[in-house]
Amino acid sequence: MKVAIYPGSFDPITNGHLDIIRRALSIFDRLVVAVADNSNKKHLFSVKERMDMIRKATESLPVDVDSFDGLLVDYLKKKDVHTIVRSLRANSDFESEFQMAVVNRELDKDIESVFLMTDKEYFYLSSSAVKEVARHGGDVSHWVHDSVREKLREIFR
Ligand code: COA
Repeated sequence: MKVAIYPGSFDPITNGHLDIIRRALSIFDRLVVAVADNSNKKHLFSVKERMDMIRKATESLPVDVDSFDGLLVDYLKKKDVHTIVRSLRANSDFESEFQMAVVNRELDKDIESVFLMTDKEYFYLSSSAVKEVARHGGDVSHWVHDSVREKLREIFR
């Protein structure tokens, strides 16, 4: 069984992430979507809220939702998984993703990172943009799952 881990902050999960999840599942039999608990970013949603939204949005898919803190390579070791899935949007993602992949491989030679190009429909999308639009009452229904839209509506009410 081919399993990979798709890590990220997912604050919140967007349709861009969901597109990557669906496409990764055409390569892997199962995907663990892992919410990072130790990111330097200031998050709008708690880890539990982020995990709940991912669960709802991926209900019908062979996906496990989990969280981790500390180093990603240690988490992979714990799960006995050797592949990381990440996505690349515009040019700007390349440098940081390249650096992250190299650091992870330096830390553990058994780990490989696989990159999927974000669909052209979502290349401009980010969780921050979704939050910014929702904060000002804009319509985010094209960018997120219904459960995420509801949660954003609740929080910015
Ligand atoms: N569609 C839409 N948006 C996308 C996207 C896609 N396909 N791919 C990335 N994004 C956006 C996200 O929404 C996010 O937007 P935001 O900045 O507005 O929140 C942004 O791209 C990047 O987020 P994400 O993919 O979640 O990466 P991250 O930099 O927040 O987290 C970790 C990366 C958690 C995987 C990484 O920091 C990590 O492994 N941390 C653990 C510590 C560690 O091991 N460090 C060593 C490695 S250097």
